[in-house]
Amino acid sequence: MSNAIALEAARRRTFAIISHPDAGKTTLTENLLLAGGAIRAAGAVRARGENRRTRSDWMKIERERGISVSASVMTFDHDGLMFNLLDTPGHEDFSEDTYRTLTAADAAVMVLDAAKGIEPQTLKLFEVCRLRDIPIITFINKMDREAQDAFALLDEIASKLALDPAPLFWPAGSGGRFKGMLDLRGQTFIPFNKNREEGHPAPAPIGADVVDTWLDPVERAEVEEGAMLVQEASKPFDPQSFLEGHMTPVIFGSALRHFGVDQLLATLAAYAPPPKSVKAERAGEATQVVPGDPEVSGFVFKVQANMDPNHRDRIAFFKLTSGRFTRGMKLKAQNTGKAMSVNAPIMFFASDRELAEEAYAGDVIGIPNHGVLRVGDSLSETGTLRFAGLPNFAPEILRRVRVKDPLKAKHLKRALEGLAEEGVTQLFRPNLGSDFVVGAVGQLQFEVMADRLANEYQLDVIFEAAPYTEARWLSGSRADIEDFDSKHRTAMAEDIDKAPVFLAKSAWEVNYVGERYPDLQFLRTKERG
Ligand code: G4P
Repeated sequence: MSNAIALEAARRRTFAIISHPDAGKTTLTENLLLAGGAIRAAGAVRARGENRRTRSDWMKIERERGISVSASVMTFDHDGLMFNLLDTPGHEDFSEDTYRTLTAADAAVMVLDAAKGIEPQTLKLFEVCRLRDIPIITFINKMDREAQDAFALLDEIASKLALDPAPLFWPAGSGGRFKGMLDLRGQTFIPFNKNREEGHPAPAPIGADVVDTWLDPVERAEVEEGAMLVQEASKPFDPQSFLEGHMTPVIFGSALRHFGVDQLLATLAAYAPPPKSVKAERAGEATQVVPGDPEVSGFVFKVQANMDPNHRDRIAFFKLTSGRFTRGMKLKAQNTGKAMSVNAPIMFFASDRELAEEAYAGDVIGIPNHGVLRVGDSLSETGTLRFAGLPNFAPEILRRVRVKDPLKAKHLKRALEGLAEEGVTQLFRPNLGSDFVVGAVGQLQFEVMADRLANEYQLDVIFEAAPYTEARWLSGSRADIEDFDSKHRTAMAEDIDKAPVFLAKSAWEVNYVGERYPDLQFLRTKERG
């Protein structure tokens, strides 16, 4: 039986796309789904034509939960493999969610804008992937526009990311002169047709006459010379080195013009890894969870609330790490010991949600619940497994939040708790006074919060400067914490799990106090568990 489970898990390819805003992640997502046969026409993933990047539109999309949810993970069956594409919101300010989502990815596609190369957000996301040993495929997008020199782009990957770029293809020109690319291993030429209506012709062997209809002799000499030089200058693609995170295969293309996308999908199919074994703890002992293990296990990496405005339900996105899950199964949370029957698990296909009858390691299912499941929760049949390492981010900005109508204070508490459970924000309840303090990684999170409080909870709130700038979780013996607490009553708060948090006026104060309490740890983040 467990062999059959391992075989199913081996068929899964769970990946995310990382990029700097505007590099073309949404367009590429759409075209990958098209290439994988998951959707039939471009434009299905999101409404086009609007300026989505303005804040109000972005929130509107968040509000139109239907779209955003089906975009959180999309599953498609292609070429005998099950692909799970995890969507990571691209906005710079809202990256906490993105980082968490990456904890569920087994591989990543890094999209670069060919004119811009590696941008700040690309670098940040890349670092998260490296930290988690996620192998990366590079897609250099927008070749139909004037691009940087391809050699310079590869150099940038090597120098900024300390990653060996291994081009699988070599482009012929860019912008108005973009003609297609050479397949460096198959010795075929893949022509790019400028004419949108006609589509791109099939790849042809390099010597074939048909290639001459696409490339004039100068262009042909140029691309062949470039291909030769790059092959001399770079290491050949080595799948093992890719899996170990030292090498990235590079593909050139134009997501918008659906060029290079089939090659990207083929590369994912051929080289992206199936889910691997994961480190965990069972009853305090270190263990490895193997995808083929019979026990169903996994962790929650994202929670989304109010997807259906008529219900107050939340959906916890659960990545399976082992076993064969079947609908109706009972899973137990490691931290609370509570068991729940998962009767209505959801799988997300591009345009549909379906009840998941079964799922395997690598798959992501949505578990509807009333707020019991949180980001970072480990679930398994025995309830004894704990997966660690889901990053929590230190809040960078703290704000006091008040509701305009004082009669609604109780309501505010519930609403804030709801958002904190989802991981939208961090919530601190100072021991003294009745205000709430919320922490966020970026300014935009406050706007999202205000918007959701208004729309989903009918609460008009004001954010005010808080007298604190730093939040630190206390860790140490109970006696030490109690001692500290009694001497710093006015600066102490509880988080959503009632864990003690020290709110300081400055980083300097944290150091100052820290030196006086050497037995206590002042942690910038907290892991649940
Ligand atoms: P993002 O999710 O990474 O933020 O990027 P998105 O796909 O939204 O693409 C950003 C802009 O770049 C869009 O233009 C999109 O059409 C364009 N784009 C994406 N891929 C390519 C490509 O391969 N070639 C060219 N020439 N453009 C590309 P926009 O005008 O901002 O939006 P829209 O109104 O066209 O949707």
